[in-house]
Amino acid sequence: MPLLITNGRIITATDDYQASILCEGETVSRIDKHIDPKSVPLNTRVIDAAGKYIFPGFIDPHVHIYLPFMGTYAKDTWETAGRAALVGGTTTLIEMICPGKTDEPIAAFDTWLSKASGIAPCDFTFHMGVTRFDPAAESQLREIVRRGITSFKVFLAYKGALGVDDRELFHTLRLAKELGVVVTAHCENETLVDELQKQLLAQGKTGPQFHEPSRPPRVEAEGVHHLMTFAELTGAHVYVVHTSCREAVAEARCAISRGVKASVEVVLPHLVLDRKYTEINGFEGAKYVMSPPLRPADQLDAMWGHLASGEVSTVATDHAPFDFETQKVMGKDAFTKIPNGIPSVEDRVNLLYTHGVCTGRISLNQFVAAASTNAARIFGLKSKGTVAVGADADLVVYDPAYRGRISAKTHQMATDYSAFEGWEIKGRPSLVTLRGAVVAENGKFIGAMGAGRLVPRTTLA
Ligand code: URP
Ligand code: ZN
Ligand code: ZN
Repeated sequence: MPLLITNGRIITATDDYQASILCEGETVSRIDKHIDPKSVPLNTRVIDAAGKYIFPGFIDPHVHIYLPFMGTYAKDTWETAGRAALVGGTTTLIEMICPGKTDEPIAAFDTWLSKASGIAPCDFTFHMGVTRFDPAAESQLREIVRRGITSFKVFLAYKGALGVDDRELFHTLRLAKELGVVVTAHCENETLVDELQKQLLAQGKTGPQFHEPSRPPRVEAEGVHHLMTFAELTGAHVYVVHTSCREAVAEARCAISRGVKASVEVVLPHLVLDRKYTEINGFEGAKYVMSPPLRPADQLDAMWGHLASGEVSTVATDHAPFDFETQKVMGKDAFTKIPNGIPSVEDRVNLLYTHGVCTGRISLNQFVAAASTNAARIFGLKSKGTVAVGADADLVVYDPAYRGRISAKTHQMATDYSAFEGWEIKGRPSLVTLRGAVVAENGKFIGAMGAGRLVPRTTLA
């Protein structure tokens, strides 16, 4: 059914204006100051967006849904995570494919695709994890890029599990450069993490509050420095995921100033949660264990500053959901065994709006750029990330007057806890469309499982 959205304030990464939007089929067909409802097809649904913002559908460029990790599996499926994303205003997810070191890349790609295709209610694509690089892996990676996956993912952390060695890193970046593919990277020095973990455990420091001291800012900065050296020598475009501290951003800045092509991501937990959360109620702090870890409060201020200055391009979630009662408890005797991750795919847009826009830390345009447009640009999602004639009709009608609270009792995600239990949100999507179909309204999912599609993507110019 065509949709006419009237009286809304359209916010893109660069513009802010009042207009009406007509969506026909899957795309935006007309944007005009006034569109006469009599001039549109008879069966058009008219939505009055007076007092509301109209944002492009938000894009989360870093989520984990199907994730075998640390001896367990992440809790969400594409049904639960996709529904949560849409209710929260995120219409496209980019999931990390994380194969084991001995898995064949094509088999891994097919597995991850099968978990989303025909099931996901939102649009999706993937970063192809490279956990091994040899001639067989290389030819399969070339095939995966031909199938439209134009970004890779490497881990410089997780020694012996997902991490690549320097030879593999070099060849992955060289291949990426040749194919015009962006390489996303988890940057922490795996040897330093391993040694610091052993040292802390030997001292009897086993609780979740010791996770951060095992991966201090220098460990992360060292990882970024390492990646930048390899990016410089191969000419590849790199994207540093979940950057949590000023030291890491400084390494990226330094590399960019000497010509390295690099982009920096921050994730929602590193903007709104500090290290103190890992200290609460004994083991309760395990809910807040992720890597890189939550940092002291002054680092959060620094990351907001880097976001406002444009040094950080994107705000993702790194959604990696594990139950507290049955999964986080695996690390009761040693923080090194707590499955890493904080569920947040549902909350990113509302918390970024509440803690970023409402506090004046970022403007409305910066909010849209960081949560949608920049990810579309960096990862070649040409039909997404803005409100424009011809673009996919992925729209978020956002009500800034809404007030509510986050709770695991009401969230759509599958986890048994919320890291933001009881937190206030100042605003939420009142209506969300995915390629012209209304998929969420006032906190309720009304879309269709399986309606999501693999998004076509371009390579770098
Ligand atoms: O703690 C995290 N970040 N868990 C998910 C895996 C990763 O490193 O992105
Ligand atoms: Zn990571
Ligand atoms: Zn991740």
